[in-house]
Amino acid sequence: MEKGGFLVYVISFLLILLIYILLKRNERESKRKAKLPPGSMGWPYIGETLQLYSQDPSVFFTTKQRRYGDIFKTYLLGCPCVMLASPEASRFVLMTQAHLFKPTYPKSKENLIGPSALFFHQGEYHSRLRKLVQGSMSPDAIRNLVTGIEAIAVSALDSWAGEHVINTFNEMKKFSFEVGILTIFGHLEACHKEELKRNYSIVDRGYNSFPSNLPGTPYKKALLARKRLSKIVGEIICERKEKRSLEKDLLGCLLNFKDEKGEILNEDQIADNIIGVLFAAQDTTASAMTWILKYLYDNPKLVETAKAEQKAIYMSNKESDSQLTWSQTRKMPVTRKMILETLRMASIISFTFREAVADVEYKGYLIPKGWKVMPLFRNIHHSPEFFTDPQKFNSSRFENAPKPNTFMPFGTGVHACPGNELAKLEMLVMIHHLVSKFRWEVVGSQRGIQYGPFPVPMHGLPARFSKESTI
Ligand code: HEM
Repeated sequence: MEKGGFLVYVISFLLILLIYILLKRNERESKRKAKLPPGSMGWPYIGETLQLYSQDPSVFFTTKQRRYGDIFKTYLLGCPCVMLASPEASRFVLMTQAHLFKPTYPKSKENLIGPSALFFHQGEYHSRLRKLVQGSMSPDAIRNLVTGIEAIAVSALDSWAGEHVINTFNEMKKFSFEVGILTIFGHLEACHKEELKRNYSIVDRGYNSFPSNLPGTPYKKALLARKRLSKIVGEIICERKEKRSLEKDLLGCLLNFKDEKGEILNEDQIADNIIGVLFAAQDTTASAMTWILKYLYDNPKLVETAKAEQKAIYMSNKESDSQLTWSQTRKMPVTRKMILETLRMASIISFTFREAVADVEYKGYLIPKGWKVMPLFRNIHHSPEFFTDPQKFNSSRFENAPKPNTFMPFGTGVHACPGNELAKLEMLVMIHHLVSKFRWEVVGSQRGIQYGPFPVPMHGLPARFSKESTI
């Protein structure tokens, strides 16, 4: 190299180095200048956990938002947290800067669901699994499930009718579990289904209990049942491999997967994701459906409006002796809006958790590495800034699309719910048969919400159902 050329090379290198150092210094300076968000941290270690659990959680968050604004800090369950109650902040954490915030769950819960389930992961493993799960729940895949879901809904409703009082939430859980099984396994032998149901309900009971490994505790029982669930899934996989059947359900997609190096998923990864999907699907959908029944019951006019739409479809199918079709479920605009408004009002997933993987600055505030970050969906859904008269059930507000990132019942970004179309389909099918053929009355006068952890009407909405033709 010539002497002059070498000099230019050295000077360019030094210039680039200088710019880099200045940029880094600026970044450090701005982080040092950034301050923690306003808020209170409560008592040492327990922080404000007692305040959160001694009242309705939404009152806790709303009071804080009024006092400190859309970004505030607190200390919950042994962790410093930053709460975010604005659409822009949720977008920042869940979409544009999602790589700076990893999913975070207590280890005790992760062990029960299965550590390889997609929602505990980020990066390549997550996106690979997500494609598989999303594919098996896309509109194209679930359109074939309408008849199966319809059969489950009809049989559930028929079993509810009579003098007996049912716990609506518990019955809706059975319904959403059956739909989950149908989506994952397609047709499944009754013995496998019963065994899955029996063991899954033990896991479900232990999920919110104190995580103790002592024999006989609900948590320990749940861990043992979880092991049995893996074994049952293993047996189903074996039978499917023997039959060499190429099903397109979720299990089929997981079994047929091969990456570019020819690697396949192992049985633990498959079982963890199957249990994970069952878990993500059951209480959420059941809670939403219980709320729909409550809102409809509280507003007789709503029932009449839904009935007018659904009975027209029901009668035409009855006359031609046909079943509900996918295209009919796409033409239920009134009921669909009621579902959206229910999801807004009930905000089943009130908030979600992430953890900052580095110091992050947002709007002049520092979110330190290791702190939990919680986008507060419910606060956004209930803000008068985005939804006029937010406490009023008004499904016609969905005649116009909500502003971006103000309506996130299914989350947003890389971890947004892949089951959202399936959940809406289940609800449409259930409402179709419910309002076309049944009446129901809520039993007892107790109003209010119970959290377990999802919000559900008090006592699971005890109700009595009767078939209209028999009234
Ligand atoms: C009304 C019913 C439902 C609601 C309100 C709901 C809500 C959500 C929300 C908010 C998330 C994102 C959580 C986060 O970002 O931390 C999520 C994720 C997820 N949901 Fe749903 N969900 C529902 C039904 C379902 C159904 C029926 C399925 C499957 C059959 C399902 C499967 C999943 C899975 C697998 C994830 C994790 C996705 C990932 O991490 O990439 N959900 N759901």
